[in-house]
This record gives sequence, C-alpha cells and structure tokens, in this order.
Amino acid sequence: MKLESLNLVNFKNYLEVDFNFSDKINFFLGNNGVGKTNILDSIHYLSFSKSYFNHIDSLNIKYGESFFSINSKFLINKLSYKTYLAYEKNKSKVIRVNDEICERFSSHIGKFPIIISTPLDSNLILGSAEIRRKFIDILICQFDKLYLNHLINYKRLIKQRNILLKQFFKKKYFSNDDIEIYNDQLVVSGNYIFNKRKEIINLLKDKILGYYNSLLSYNENIDIVYKSQLSENSFSDLLNKSIEKDKILCYTSSGIHRDDIDFFINGLSMKKTGSQGQQKSFTLSLKFAEFELLKKMIGFKPLFLIDDLFDKLDKNRVSSIISFISTNDFGQIFITDTDLERIKLIIRNTDLDFKFFTIKNNKVDEEIF
Ligand SMILES: Nc1ncnc2c1ncn2[C@@H]1O[C@H](COP(=O)(O)OP(=O)(O)O)[C@@H](O)[C@H]1O
Ligand SMILES: [Mg+2]
Repeated sequence: MKLESLNLVNFKNYLEVDFNFSDKINFFLGNNGVGKTNILDSIHYLSFSKSYFNHIDSLNIKYGESFFSINSKFLINKLSYKTYLAYEKNKSKVIRVNDEICERFSSHIGKFPIIISTPLDSNLILGSAEIRRKFIDILICQFDKLYLNHLINYKRLIKQRNILLKQFFKKKYFSNDDIEIYNDQLVVSGNYIFNKRKEIINLLKDKILGYYNSLLSYNENIDIVYKSQLSENSFSDLLNKSIEKDKILCYTSSGIHRDDIDFFINGLSMKKTGSQGQQKSFTLSLKFAEFELLKKMIGFKPLFLIDDLFDKLDKNRVSSIISFISTNDFGQIFITDTDLERIKLIIRNTDLDFKFFTIKNNKVDEEIF
C-alpha cells in the first residue's frame, strides 16, 4: 500500500501544502512546533476519519478559517483510491473515496490501514486500562469488520443496560426479564470480543520479544498478559453473579469493558521497573509486532508512521531501526525528527529510497542532496 500524494488545505498550521511521496521512507524534519506531527495526523485522518490527537474536528481547522480539506491518492495492489476528507465548521464531515461518499465512517476503517507510533505510546504503559483496550481494539478493527460491529453493539448495550439499572434504582423496582434481554445480547458480542482479544494478544506476545531483544539489542524477558474476567468465568455467569452489585452501583460491573493488558519485564511490572529507554523500546517493539500482524491479516503492507523517532532512543538503536525498516518486510514509512543532520549521517551510507521534507514557517520544502 502506498500513499502517493497528499494535499492539505487549512489543516492545522498549513494554508496549503502538496506532497509527492517516496515509495519507501519519507522524513519530515524541522524544529519543535513547526507542524511535523500535523502531517502524520492528516494521514491518520484519512485512515480513521479522525485525528489521532484530538477528536474535535473544528480544532484542526487552521485558526481563522472555516474548513479544512485533505486530498490524497492511495495505491493498494495496483488499484488507485482518490481519497478526500473535508470538514467545514458547523457542518458534517465528508469522506469520498473515488468520488463515492462514505455514508458510515465506521465502514471506512480498515480501507487504508496504518500503524502509528508516537511519544504518546508511553501512555500504553503508564496510562489507564482504557488506553490499552483502545490500542487492541484499533488494531483488530483494521482487519476484522465483525469485531468493530460487535464492539459498537457492546458499547450501546452496556449504555442501555446501565440506564435501565438507574431507572430501576430510582423506581425501586426490578425486572430480571428486562435485564436478561440485554444480557443475552451482551454475551454474544462480549464473547466474540474476548476471544479475538485473547487470540491477537497471544500473537503479539510471540512476536514482540524478537523485536525487543534482537532489533533493540536488549537482553531481557518481556511479556504481555491479557487480563479479563471472562478468562475464569463464562460471561453469562459473571453477569448473573454480579447483578446484586450492579443494582446498587447502577452500572454493569463485569464484562470485557473491564479488560486490561499487563506488560512485564523480567517478570516485573514494566510500569514500575522499566527505564524510560526500556519502555520506549517496548512500545516500539509492540508497534513492530502490530505491523507484522496487521500485514499478515490484510495481505499487504500497511503504512507505518513514526513520530519523533529519536525520542528516548540513542543513535545506534535509531540506525538499526532505520536499516531494519528499509528492508522489504516493510512498505512505505513516514518519520518525523527534529535534526536533519543526524538523519543524514545515519542514511549517508545506505542506498535507501527516501525523500526529505523540511518544514519551516508553515512551508514545506523537499530537500535534494
Ligand atoms: N488549528 C490550528 N491552526 C493553526 N495552527 C495550528 C492548529 N493546530 C495546531 N497548530 C499549530 O501546529 C503546531 C504544532 O504542530 P506539530 O505538528 O505538533 O509540531 P511538531 O510535530 O513539528 O513539533 C503549533 O505551532 C500549533 O500552533
Ligand atoms: Mg511532533
């Protein structure tokens, strides 16, 4: 899969900018705050119909303007997809692929699969369980439409079940039959999600160690463990057992919305004992594992976006990452960094196919050397 061209109008700090990308590695270089990450975010928009960083579309319109648009051309298995996304203030967002309007954004997800790595990945280790659930959901949704449908369905059912519990509490009345209508449907979607998460986390677990130790040259044992109430009990039993508690709490206290993923280094919590460098290497390895898995599932190479490559990594590790991602196992890559000279040094002796885009004063120049 390739992103051949990209045109941004009024997107964040850019008035208008055009890119024609290299099929292999594209570097966006410039000082902090010049708008490098914004370019990656526009690619994320095309893939997920929203920003990676903030979900309020209007905040992504250039200050003082009334709309933004993103025009692009993707190539997948020799087929070309002209993809257009635009948002106008107080109006709805539009996505068109080859002039066909996308009616439901959820059905757009998975058309242009990407893996994105940013310094925010540290939140996967340090942040809440919700962040980790989202991480696994986003990965699976890109190759499994049924999973996405079950997820949407599950969230809706939990919301409705909680409303019902609140109404019962207020009215001092309870109907088990009404609750069971929700339980039956929850069990179907919940079990699908549980089994899929379990399968995919196990596959990631098998892959991540190799990246962490051989690519990033650590010598440690790292592990990923899926934690779900459904591992020990059937979901319908859990719902039945927790009903008395749910009645008092007025929410559904058991299910896959309580899942978590534990990360370990040498048997200890990665959050508590991993150094910043180890945590960064761990999340990066996780992204490589994700990439390999997604590629296998969809049958072609997704785009790989790496924001602030040097963040918390030394030059040797960055060098080995760059030579690794230059191999045929990877497709097209987009990397941001602040230092043109250090990237030049790293790729000086390679025969890489790459393009350099330097950014300054909201303008982008392609640097040829
Ligand atoms: N809606 C917007 N309109 C204009 N500028 C914006 C908007 N949103 C963000 N910016 C600008 O984008 C810049 C940050 O861009 P970013 O891509 O994060 O920088 P970098 O990754 O190069 O450090 C800031 O200067 C910010 O003011
Ligand atoms: Mg940035």
